[in-house]
Amino acid sequence: MSNETQRLIRLVNENLDYEKIRSNSIRLEKRHFNARNVLNNIVEQLSSKAAESKDHFEIQSPDDLPIYADYDRFVQIVFNITNNAIQFTDNGTITLIGERGYQETVIRIADTGIGMTKEQQKNIFERYYKADASRRAHKYGESGLGLAIVHQLVQQHGGTISVTSKPHKGTTFTVIIPDQTDEEKKDAAKQKQAPKTDA
Ligand SMILES: Nc1ncnc2c1ncn2[C@@H]1O[C@H](COP(=O)(O)OP(=O)(O)OP(=O)(O)O)[C@@H](O)[C@H]1O
Ligand SMILES: [Mg+2]
Repeated sequence: MSNETQRLIRLVNENLDYEKIRSNSIRLEKRHFNARNVLNNIVEQLSSKAAESKDHFEIQSPDDLPIYADYDRFVQIVFNITNNAIQFTDNGTITLIGERGYQETVIRIADTGIGMTKEQQKNIFERYYKADASRRAHKYGESGLGLAIVHQLVQQHGGTISVTSKPHKGTTFTVIIPDQTDEEKKDAAKQKQAPKTDA
């Protein structure tokens, strides 16, 4: 496994501190990077887990998919949603879709798994919520914190997350991350003029 891959695993396991994220004490370090590389890395990292559930991955994205985000947090967002997709899908397909919108980057994670009713979809971004109590005993989905954290992280980026789902058909999560704002561009230009001495 690549260093990058190992780093991703560490990140996801270590940094699920919901309270910190919620209280905004985690500062985003936003930068420009190619989101396609993250999609590739996550697929590589989760491929053996997907194989265990007889799922196969597809990526639909341009080779170059610019995004402005905190790299590690973005990894955490996509990793968590994709990890769920595998957990709730057997013998299916998980598609990671990346595209540019108007001044934003759009990531969709679509699965052909068990899906959710409207009722079940309602509270999934709430802390400790599980769509179905019986899923609690499932071999996966331990704490019910994943999507609550994902939601917080997306909001901190000024973005949105939404879900569409049908029982026995599958689920699609859509994450939209806005481009760098004019305000942020000005700040970045200032920083360049008078670089912060981080001593
Ligand atoms: N792709 C999906 N297909 C069907 N149901 C889903 C999917 N993703 C999430 N859910 C439902 O939403 C609930 C909340 O997801 P979340 O990731 O927050 O918690 P979890 O996976 O149960 O636990 P954790 O991620 O903390 O180990 C899940 O328990 C499941 O019922
Ligand atoms: Mg989860």
